[in-house]
Amino acid sequence: MARPILIANWKMNVPAIGAKHFVRDAAGVVNAAVEMVVAPPFPFLSEAVTAAESHGGKIAIAAQNCHDKASGAFTGEVSTSMLQQLGVSMVIIGHSERRQFFGDTDEWIGRKLAAARAAGLMPVFCVGEDEATYERGATMELIERQLREAFRVAGSDLSPLVIAYEPVWAIGTGKNATPEIAARTHRGIRSIVKEIAPSAEYRVIYGGSVTPANARELASSEEIEGFLVGGASLEVTKFLAIYEALQDAAVAI
Ligand code: 13P
Repeated sequence: MARPILIANWKMNVPAIGAKHFVRDAAGVVNAAVEMVVAPPFPFLSEAVTAAESHGGKIAIAAQNCHDKASGAFTGEVSTSMLQQLGVSMVIIGHSERRQFFGDTDEWIGRKLAAARAAGLMPVFCVGEDEATYERGATMELIERQLREAFRVAGSDLSPLVIAYEPVWAIGTGKNATPEIAARTHRGIRSIVKEIAPSAEYRVIYGGSVTPANARELASSEEIEGFLVGGASLEVTKFLAIYEALQDAAVAI
C-alpha cells in the first residue's frame, strides 16, 4: 500500500491556535508512516512554510487554488510559480467549492493541473458528485467526465498526484460516505485512470465530514489512502486524532 496522506484544508478559515502554532503542534506528532499536509488560505502560506521548515520540514504546505497562467492581468489570482517560490509544494485543484462558487470548469481545472505539474507542485485533484447525481446512481458517469476532461486538457503525465474523492453531499454536512461507498468509488476512479493514464502514479483519498469518530472505520479500507479534511482540521487535537487513526491503520494493513 502507498504511504497514506492526510491533508488539512482550512478553506477560508484559520484555526484559533494560529497557523504557526498549529504547524508546531502537528510537527511534534508527524512521522514517516503517514504524510501530513496543511493547506491554509494564501495570506498564511508563508507563515506555515516557515513554521514547517523550523520544525524539521516534516509537514508539506499546500495552496487551496492557483491560476493556470504564469503571470499577467488576472486581478486577485496567484500563479503556481509564485507558490513554488514561496516554498509551497502542493496545490488543491478542482475543489467542489471552486467548481460551485467560482466557475472552475473541467477544462480550466485541466489547465491548472498542467500548470501545477510544470511548476513542480503536486496536485491534489478533487472529484466528486452532488447529491442529486448520487441519488440517481450516476456518480461514476460524472466522475469519469471530471477525470477524462481534466486529463485530456492537462496531458496524461501528472504523476505523482493525489486524487481526492469528495462527494459534495458529504462536505460540511456531518454525513460522511460509508467506507463501502468510498471504497467502491475509489475502485471506479482507479479503473478509469488505468484507462486514461495507465502509467500515472497516484493515491486516492477521501474527503467529506471526516472526524476522529469515523476516521478509524474509513481508514480500515485499503482503498482509502488518506483524507482531505475540512472542519475537523481547524482544531489541532481533532486533526491529530485523525492522523493517529491513519497511522494505526497503516501499521495494521
Ligand atoms: P469537511 O471535512 O468540513 O466536510 O470538508 C471536506 C472538504 O471539503 C475538504 O476539502
